[in-house]
Amino acid sequence: MNKEVMKNPSKYLGNELKYLEKVLEGESWSATGGSWTIGLEQAFSKRIGTKYGVAFNSGTSTLHAALEAVGVGAGDEVISPALTVIMDSTATFAANAIPVYCDIVEDTFNLDPDKLEALITPKTKAIIAVALYGLSPDYDRILDIAKRHHVAVIEDNAQAVLSSYKGKMLGTIGDISSFSFENTKHISCGEGGMILTDQEEYAEKCRKLGGHGFKNLRAEDGRVRLNQDMFQNPDYKRHDALGWNYRMPEFTAAVAYAQLERVDELVKLRQESAKIFMDVMKTCDYLIPQKTPDGYVNSYYSLGVRYLGEEKTGKTWQEFRKEYVDIGGDGYYGAWSVPYLEPVISERVFAKRLPGIYENVRYEHGLCPVAERVQKQIMQMKTNYRDLELAKRKAEILFSLIRKYE
Ligand SMILES: Cc1ncc(COP(=O)(O)O)c(C=O)c1O
Repeated sequence: MNKEVMKNPSKYLGNELKYLEKVLEGESWSATGGSWTIGLEQAFSKRIGTKYGVAFNSGTSTLHAALEAVGVGAGDEVISPALTVIMDSTATFAANAIPVYCDIVEDTFNLDPDKLEALITPKTKAIIAVALYGLSPDYDRILDIAKRHHVAVIEDNAQAVLSSYKGKMLGTIGDISSFSFENTKHISCGEGGMILTDQEEYAEKCRKLGGHGFKNLRAEDGRVRLNQDMFQNPDYKRHDALGWNYRMPEFTAAVAYAQLERVDELVKLRQESAKIFMDVMKTCDYLIPQKTPDGYVNSYYSLGVRYLGEEKTGKTWQEFRKEYVDIGGDGYYGAWSVPYLEPVISERVFAKRLPGIYENVRYEHGLCPVAERVQKQIMQMKTNYRDLELAKRKAEILFSLIRKYE
C-alpha cells in the first residue's frame, strides 16, 4: 500500500470522522439495511426542496438512471450542451440513446435556447441541461420548448449546489435532477451522486435501476433487507425490474452527510474565492469571467474565464498559464474537449454497442462552432480555497501579471 498520501484535513472539518465511526459500529454498511444513505437522501432533498432523493455511487450513474426513468430507450435522441464533461454523452449511450449536441451561449458557456428547438425531432425524448461551473442555464426558455414538444428536462447539477435561477433552487426546476459528490465537488465523499425529483414514479424507477431492480424498493426508501421472513423464504421472488448496482455505500453517505451540514459555508467559500479573482480581472479586457446574468446565483464550482489576450500579451493560453505558475500562481485547467471531439465519440467507439442504432450516427468538427471556439479559450480557475487569505495572495499574483501587460 502506498502510505504517501497527500493530507487534506481542511476537507473534513466537520463530523465526518465521528459519523464514519458510527457506520463502522453499525450493523449494515450498505444502503440496503443502514440508515445513513436514507438520512442523506432526506436531508439533501429537504435542503434543495424536492419530495424525493435517491443516492447513487456517482453523478454519472444518476444520469443513466434519470434518462431511463423519464422513458429514454434504444434509438431515442437526447440533447445535451456541446460544452460539458463526457458523462452526459456516455450516460446517453448507456441508455442506448443517441446524443445530439446543442451549441452554447458565448458568455455564459451554457446551452443556447435559440439553437435548441431546431434540434428536436420525433425521436427526442430528453434534454440534459447542465449548470456549467455552477451557473444555471436559461430554464424558462428551455422548459417552454421542452413542454411544447413533450420532452423531459433533466438538470445536470453536478457542478451546482445551492445555485439558483430567478429565485428557484437548481434541482427543483426540471422533471428530475442529478448531483455529484465526487472528490472535487462542493459536497464531497470521494465518489457519489444524488437524484432529486418531485415525481414518485421517477424516484422509484431510479431506485430500482440503481438497486438491482428489487421489487420492494420504494421512491422514498432504499432499504430492502428489513423483513427477514420474506428473504428467508425460498419461494420469494425479488426482482421485477432491470437494475444494476449503483448504490451509495453507508460510509460515503456518512461523509456526505457531514459535508451537507456545512454546505452553506462550503459554497460561500467558493463564491468568495471567485469574487476575489474576478475583482482583480475587472480592469482587464482579455480575461473575461463567465457572465452570471441578473437573477441567477452561481455557486462557482470553478471560475470559468475566457482568455482573449494573445494579441495584447503576445502569449498563448499555455504561455500565459506557465508565466502565472512560474511567479507563484495556481495552475488553472483547460476546459474538457467538446464531447463529440473525444476519440470515443469522434472515432465512433460507441457504435459497436448497438450497430443497428448507431450505423448512421456521426459527429464532425464544426458541429457546434461557438462551443469549439470558447472551449479553447477557457481557463478553469480554482475556487475551493478554504483559506481566503491564500486566495487573495494568488489573486494578487494574477494581478501583477495583468499589470505587466497593461
Ligand atoms: C457536469 C457534470 N456532469 C456529470 C458529472 C459526473 O459526475 P461523477 O464524476 O460523480 O460521475 C460531472 C463530474 O465531473 C460533471 O461535472
